[in-house]
Amino acid sequence: MSSIHIIYASTSGHTEYVVDTLIEFLSQKTPEIAVERQRVELAKPEDLLRGDLVILGSGTWNFGGVEGQLNEYMHRYLFERAQDIDLTGKQIAFISLGDDRYYYTTRCTEKFMRFLKCSHAKMALIPLIVVNEPYGQEERIRKWGEKLIKLFEQPIPLTSSPPQHVPVA
Ligand SMILES: Cc1cc2nc3c(=O)[nH]c(=O)nc-3n(C[C@H](O)[C@H](O)[C@H](O)COP(=O)(O)O)c2cc1C
Repeated sequence: MSSIHIIYASTSGHTEYVVDTLIEFLSQKTPEIAVERQRVELAKPEDLLRGDLVILGSGTWNFGGVEGQLNEYMHRYLFERAQDIDLTGKQIAFISLGDDRYYYTTRCTEKFMRFLKCSHAKMALIPLIVVNEPYGQEERIRKWGEKLIKLFEQPIPLTSSPPQHVPVA
């Protein structure tokens, strides 16, 4: 059985709503994919190794007094508790939220990209970016869910072969 492990942070409940909408869609469309969700406050570094695919979800916050950051709990998880993890060969997808009243709208996505690079993981598909309240944006979430399902229907190799060295004559 295929499986997805979702680790998320949510202060006012928006990211949690997106995660739950996604899980409801996936469980209806593909009950053969087991989906688990976990609040980041309870996650251990090794939880990033769970499932065939890990999804990380967070809103954009002003952690440390600076706008455009990850939710504090997600920041501390990725860049403190799990900072040394090596996710080579692992696929990750991201869900980012934000609000266009802020100058650095949904810029937590950049922090997720930084983690992707540091951990050597591979991005499974383009991030789901939800601007403003997620209520009424369920169709976008489901569309992204369809793309996720396609990943499982046509599995992309987790590790690509290293480039061949062609000797120059
Ligand atoms: C104090 C504060 C700071 C925020 N900073 C940003 C920001 O820099 N950029 C942005 O796009 N949204 C910002 N937001 C909006 C949140 O990212 C948005 O409401 C999000 O949906 C919250 O998700 P959550 O409830 O799952 O944590 C901020 C909200 C608050 C209350």
